[in-house]
Amino acid sequence: SVHDRVLDLLGRMTVPEKIGQMMQVDARGDLDALVRERTVGSILHTSPQRITQAYELTQQTRLRIPLLVGEDCIHGHSFWPGATIFPTQLGMAASFNPELVRQVARATAIEVAATGTHWTFSPVLCVARDLRWGRVNETFGEDLHLIAELAVAMVEGYQGAGLDDPTAILATAKHFAGYSETQGGRDASEADISHRKMRSWFLPPFEAVARAGCATFMLGYQSTDGVPVTLNEWLLSEVLRGEWGYTGTLITDWDNVGRMVWEQQIQPDIAHAAAAATKAGNDMIMTTPSFFEGAQKALELGLLEPDAFDRAVARILTLKFEFGLFENPRLPCEERISTVVGTHQDLNLQVARESLVLLENDGTLPLSAPLKVAVVGPVADDVDCLLGDWAGASGQADMPNGQPRDMSITPLEGIRAIVAELGGAVTYARGADIVNVEPHPDGPHHPDGQPRMPVITSSPLDQSQLDDAVTIAEEADVVVAVVGDNIYLVGEGRSTATLNLMGGQNALLDAMVASGKPVVIVLLASKPLVLPASAEKAAAIIWAANPGMRGGQALAELLFGRIEPVGRLPISFARHVGQQPTYYAQIRGQHGDRYADLSQDPAWVFGEGKSYTTITYSNLTLDSSAPGREDSVVGRVRLTNTGSRPSRETVQAYIRDKMTSASWADRELKAFTHAWVQPGESIDVEVRVPVAECTIVDAAGNRIVEPGEFSLLVGPTSRPTDLLEAPFAVE
Ligand code: IFM
Repeated sequence: SVHDRVLDLLGRMTVPEKIGQMMQVDARGDLDALVRERTVGSILHTSPQRITQAYELTQQTRLRIPLLVGEDCIHGHSFWPGATIFPTQLGMAASFNPELVRQVARATAIEVAATGTHWTFSPVLCVARDLRWGRVNETFGEDLHLIAELAVAMVEGYQGAGLDDPTAILATAKHFAGYSETQGGRDASEADISHRKMRSWFLPPFEAVARAGCATFMLGYQSTDGVPVTLNEWLLSEVLRGEWGYTGTLITDWDNVGRMVWEQQIQPDIAHAAAAATKAGNDMIMTTPSFFEGAQKALELGLLEPDAFDRAVARILTLKFEFGLFENPRLPCEERISTVVGTHQDLNLQVARESLVLLENDGTLPLSAPLKVAVVGPVADDVDCLLGDWAGASGQADMPNGQPRDMSITPLEGIRAIVAELGGAVTYARGADIVNVEPHPDGPHHPDGQPRMPVITSSPLDQSQLDDAVTIAEEADVVVAVVGDNIYLVGEGRSTATLNLMGGQNALLDAMVASGKPVVIVLLASKPLVLPASAEKAAAIIWAANPGMRGGQALAELLFGRIEPVGRLPISFARHVGQQPTYYAQIRGQHGDRYADLSQDPAWVFGEGKSYTTITYSNLTLDSSAPGREDSVVGRVRLTNTGSRPSRETVQAYIRDKMTSASWADRELKAFTHAWVQPGESIDVEVRVPVAECTIVDAAGNRIVEPGEFSLLVGPTSRPTDLLEAPFAVE
């Protein structure tokens, strides 16, 4: 059995071999020293050549333990320029479509496995509540029910028919837990969350994937209650291993162990940090090269017992045995690479279509032909913005299926293709820049080798660029203004203090609106941004959150009515950065819980998104107004299409607990379902919410269903005025 094999191997390992097995190292380092001399357990950030080389080096070690190869393949294979790059997680979330997300993960796993990569650091389960945070794009948005549904689907897609499936890759639930709850939106700052708040909002999606068999968990950078997650006994031992019975493998985030010494200054040296991390129950230590010496020093100092590493090493070996790595090292396979990598573009197009959200439309959309279309904006033809981060930096390698540029269809290209077919004409002007990027004045690296962020400033207005855009707008029938953020404003360590469009983009939108032509704004942005006041006069607004390689095609199809707008917001848009946080599931406050100078309402709320028709919701009825605790609340609602085009509605069901023993959100999403409604048609849609899920977390931290009065709220968005209400009671 796996257990016997693990015990046998563990019994033959020396202490340095065990410590090496606990280490994951950057494969861009000295592989010979890392793999052959230190017998590390895993590598990340690599290439097929390096994977094969690393494997050969393991064959020169005493016990020939195979390596796990890890990578951030979070919306496609990030280190493989020929791979299919899907919309970001936030874009996928707009589909409210777990089955589609499962297919994306399956396709990703097939491509990733072919390249000899075993382990993806995905999905991200962080609950995104502060839009300033630079990693909002990597999340499934603000709602824990939606996050959990999509994350479980993603884990199942990655892990396929089981870990011994040759196309399975190991999934990672990250970043455990509460990483997104930053100070001021600043990445990796303190996330000071009470245990009750953790149980209320941040733990449930992790519990869902733990129970669904997610192979590994990654611990975030943040501290909670003054304790980094890496050392957090409550999170790791009590909750994860104890309450949830999780037996998978834990991995730290990048140099979490070293940072306790160099950055957080809560451990005196690496020996103490290594000892603390080992005792706290960490298994794999990501990119802390000095862990090797630190852990040995900790033994010498008596900070650890000699068997201190056995528990972690046993888990890592168990994972390797269960993954079948000893029988099949799952090396890069040229033949598979050429037949599967980059081949999921039809699926990609479908996801891109479902990721686009129509926020406003005065009837200008869909466009009809023939037309003179002026496309303006700095991201209209920008592949990096189309793909988002973790998307395979161009030029990493010469791959058979081409580079992202050749494989992608930008908005400009997508619009050109359809307009040419229709016999119209497209003109293009960049109109504005976004940011200037200068190397850091103190050099690219700190003395300890850590990278320094470049200095990023908003680009000044360029009058000649703006004039060119005005000229083509004046000659056009319609303007499509593609504005947003770019790769320098998104990602780890790249949070933003504002949410405004950077550079000359606001001026560009002002000028386009002033031209008097109908302006369709396409916000190609990694996360919700704040548009200028002139946007209120735009004819239509679409949000496209890094929609992937087929994003430009999907967008053009939407503009010209070849598809219906089906995406819905997985996250609310603020009117102003100062409104943060703007999520819908706010705790019921008191009279002063508002601003004097600005509405409290978001610009667009969670769940919102228009279609090209009009749908009314009516006749909400319940099967029972007193369901038992083992039953479900079953509601039925009538949808009527009074317009002339079909619509795929995302019917959303929220629960309101009318009186709670501890302060709680006014309403929470508990179920959603899709329904197509044809013009003139009325259909009845059923929604079901198990009573067992009508919970709150009480003041003592227990998640319970409290007896009393509730409502089922059903509608097309999370906005109270869009929801029908049906009361029920639980004893
Ligand atoms: O997986 C990532 C994590 O999300 C952030 N820090 C680096 C890791 C490995 O690249």
